[in-house]
Amino acid sequence: MNRPALEGLRLNVPACVKHPRLVEWVAQIAALTEAADVYWCDGSEAEYQRFTEQLVAAGTLMKLNPELRPRSFLARSDATDVARVEDRTFICSEKKEDAGPTNNWMAPADMRKLLETGDKALFKGAMKGRTMYVVPFSMGPLGSHIAHIGVELTDSPYVAVSMRTMTRMGRGALDVLGEDGHFVPCVHTVGAPLEAGQKDVAWPCNPTKYIVHYPESREIWSYGSGYGGNALLGKKCFALRIASTMGRDQGWLAEHMLILGVTTPAGKKYHVAAAFPSACGKTNFSMLVPPADYPGWKVTTIGDDIAWIKPHDDGRLYAINPEAGYFGVAPGTNYHTNPNCMDSMKSDVVFTNVALTDDGDVWWEGMSDTPPAHLIDWQGRDWTPAIAKASGAKAAHPNSRFTVAATNNPALDAQWDDPQGVAIDAFIFGGRRSTTVPLVTEARTWGEGVYMAATMGSETTAAMAGGNGSVRRDPFAMLPFMGYNMSDYFQHWLDLGEKLGKTGAKLPRIYCVNWFRKGADGQFVWPGYGENMRVLEWMVGRVEGKAEGADNLFGISPRYEDLRWDGLTFSRQQFDAVIGIDKAAWQQELVLHTELFKQLEHHLPAELPATQARIEARLAQAA
Ligand code: GTP
Ligand code: SPV
Ligand code: MN
Repeated sequence: MNRPALEGLRLNVPACVKHPRLVEWVAQIAALTEAADVYWCDGSEAEYQRFTEQLVAAGTLMKLNPELRPRSFLARSDATDVARVEDRTFICSEKKEDAGPTNNWMAPADMRKLLETGDKALFKGAMKGRTMYVVPFSMGPLGSHIAHIGVELTDSPYVAVSMRTMTRMGRGALDVLGEDGHFVPCVHTVGAPLEAGQKDVAWPCNPTKYIVHYPESREIWSYGSGYGGNALLGKKCFALRIASTMGRDQGWLAEHMLILGVTTPAGKKYHVAAAFPSACGKTNFSMLVPPADYPGWKVTTIGDDIAWIKPHDDGRLYAINPEAGYFGVAPGTNYHTNPNCMDSMKSDVVFTNVALTDDGDVWWEGMSDTPPAHLIDWQGRDWTPAIAKASGAKAAHPNSRFTVAATNNPALDAQWDDPQGVAIDAFIFGGRRSTTVPLVTEARTWGEGVYMAATMGSETTAAMAGGNGSVRRDPFAMLPFMGYNMSDYFQHWLDLGEKLGKTGAKLPRIYCVNWFRKGADGQFVWPGYGENMRVLEWMVGRVEGKAEGADNLFGISPRYEDLRWDGLTFSRQQFDAVIGIDKAAWQQELVLHTELFKQLEHHLPAELPATQARIEARLAQAA
């Protein structure tokens, strides 16, 4: 430990902290980073108030018009710090093969040298001139047997504020920790130390970025970014990458899934968990408002991004949402596509990288058909429809986001905070594919479902730096979030199915969906959003043993007459355009599956190529 740096620095440990290991670690990191001060977050309303006022004074947050958007703020990030950085994300397991071929890897000792121990280690002195915030948080309802505790040390008050909304943050988490409870240590710096007298910028960050995970010691170290999943370490770093490793070791699942409740007119309630890649519709689906012709149907949100799922003695899988808020995509959200989301954003929101209206409110592409005549864009520049037409400049960044508490959501499920979780009846996997993949397919077996999920492809989006719409394989929508070898993860899913199958319990059904097929005109054929209820109704019907379907190439799909069309003009021909199997396209698709399996050949479960062989045989026979 760097003793000299610690001298003169007070750790300011509050009386309620009774955890010597936590205090020792805070002292170590304060010494390493040479933080100017240490502040322990209690998670109170008063503290949130103080932080936001301080952020307004610093120019990081701008207060929005309190009449139009009460207690809400706008942040504009540095123009280079706008999304997750997958090429800077590392899984530093002892053995390279344990990170697997889909992750960046470096030996832990080498990474530690780079970040902590080397002469020029990045974290040395990284918090000079800044306060280090100690942010204790629970992922999952406080005290739930499915929940886990983390503590993030960060020099970003924007992160501290966001963590209060996104997690159960503060005193409650410390109480759960007690004197020697386990926590996942998460260290975060924006990597912009301030020398004496140096003026700060509104969004400090560093062009060098490292998002680092040590799966064996369950540690997270993040350097250089203040944005989203790079910096709110409870989210992707802990709840997916580290938690997937914990789940492998302990027999549970950490998934990039929304969780919803769907209630039928007969009053029966089912729970569905759905994995779509980043910016592919999870928030939207989790808040779905059924069409007007669906009286009695109700969809309620348990989670919009992450699910932790544990098997119980009854042979069923119980899911919790480890988060307490939404960090959701703004563009495309409006009162037609997602009214519950719009209502969630009426007050108490932190917006990041959306546009500012002249009356002090926010706007983003797709919020209204006609954009305002003048805006300040996400980089603080004047924006008009004419400027946009001439230069293509977007008013809001395509990965601009809102941060709100789950309790703002009018469709919040009564059980969203239930420490027991909800029993899952169906899993859905869906990518963004303008061709090839049909609207909906039901797997005939668990193994067929694992195959669908494992081979899923999707067009990349602005949620990742460099996302440009090109199709890539994104197994289980977990490609950027896997904490270990992808093939071992496939095996973990297969093993879980086998284990649950032995209990005699009904396994959740598995579906593959695609809302995004396009016609020759380049437009989406399927209306999506609330109309996805028609597909959800068919799934519920299948779970209840009522709905019919027909075999397709890799599972069972509804025929036109198997879906309800009341209130929607959607012809048989249009339906064919979203459900049909194009033989040539599937021959191509299966080549991509082969390439994926080649990449993942180390530990690839034999069941997957065997399933592929059956699909190929069926395809060969197809007309
Ligand atoms: P992450 O937070 O990045 O994990 O994303 P997400 O999966 O929660 O995505 P979200 O629901 O925020 O949707 C992202 C974009 O897809 C938004 O612009 C939506 O408008 C659009 N979208 C969502 N559902 C549909 C749909 O059913 N059809 C179409 N065409 N677009 C959709
Ligand atoms: C995603 O990219 O899947 C997100 C946003 O949910 S972030 O938290 O930035 O990863
Ligand atoms: Mn996500």
